[in-house]
Amino acid sequence: LDNGVSRTPPMGWNSWNHFWCGINESVVMSTADALVSTGLASLGYKYVNLDDCWAESERDENGKLRGKASTFPSGIKALADYVHARGLKVGIYADAGNRTCTNQMPGSLHHEYEDAKTFAEWGVDYIKYDNCYHDGTRNRERYTAMGHALEKIKRPIHFSLCEWGQEDPAKWAGAYGHSWRTTGDINDTFARSIAFHLCIHLHPNLWQPLNHLNNRWRRYAGPGRWNGNPDMLEVGNGGMTMDEYWSHFSIWSLMKAPLLIGCDLRSVSNRTLRILGNKEVIEVNEDSLGVQGGKLRSKDGLEVWAGPLSDNRVVVVLWNRSKLRALITAVWRDFGLSPNTPAIVRDLWKHKYVSMNKRDRLTASVAPHACKMYVLTPLQS
Ligand code: DGJ
Repeated sequence: LDNGVSRTPPMGWNSWNHFWCGINESVVMSTADALVSTGLASLGYKYVNLDDCWAESERDENGKLRGKASTFPSGIKALADYVHARGLKVGIYADAGNRTCTNQMPGSLHHEYEDAKTFAEWGVDYIKYDNCYHDGTRNRERYTAMGHALEKIKRPIHFSLCEWGQEDPAKWAGAYGHSWRTTGDINDTFARSIAFHLCIHLHPNLWQPLNHLNNRWRRYAGPGRWNGNPDMLEVGNGGMTMDEYWSHFSIWSLMKAPLLIGCDLRSVSNRTLRILGNKEVIEVNEDSLGVQGGKLRSKDGLEVWAGPLSDNRVVVVLWNRSKLRALITAVWRDFGLSPNTPAIVRDLWKHKYVSMNKRDRLTASVAPHACKMYVLTPLQS
């Protein structure tokens, strides 16, 4: 949606992947504090987003949603004030049906305007809109209803459509919202999550050489409308190796996915912080060109991913999804660069230039499930 919100993919934290329903105001407040004290906030992670289970099971006598008294006794407005006072923004969760997915709180179907108004009164800056317990009407209709409600209340709110890609939201959601999911939920494992999801959800032609811009899905993504939102991050939740989290974060950044941290930031390790806080990888995600990268080639689990960046630069990820260390090669024509074009190559995980004059191809030895991530700056076009 072209209203100035999320011109680059949104960054922040969401409670679901780690806490599920176990959230309360103290967790959320400490998380806001941790975003600031770890330095993540100053790298761009600004949204503190509640997911399911924040509200009482029923609306109040005036039909309004309200924070669950046992876990959010100060109320959501006070929580939003606390988050805003730290220079951050606050997100909330609602559902385009009669109940949310856990059945713990009411949905917003047929209450779109009053709920949008309540959220705006509380100072909410981001709404994730889920898709459970609905009445069988089309997703598009129910999501559009919330989109119109948000238009009316005139507060700049990031509208995230969580309809899992069922009705090709890329085709219509950008008129009302700023991001949409393209998959079901991921989980904190490599085989059944990162690798598997990326295989199935990406259209085979998602990324084509830079000179073929008529690609079916990519043209729907861009500033203010983030396509290919493959769910929130699992980095730091403990189920994957560091190499796997490294790949997870690299690929999400390249795909211009919203970077929503899903771990417990109150006890985050330095190793996790080195991944989530890699400024150079974040800069790829937040690049002003706003073009989504994708998979170019895959053979026996050895993959080349790439995408264009501002100033004619190119981001390249060489990803080894196989079980053995392997050499992976990307060639210049993969990215629409003429063979023999000299390029400066920077390794974003080593934080080093690996060549000042590389021509034609890039080869690296990559450990199983790990990746290499580079930015290429061509010296002539
Ligand atoms: C389904 C969504 O896809 C998840 O991200 C999470 O919001 C749960 N619902 C909450 O019930």
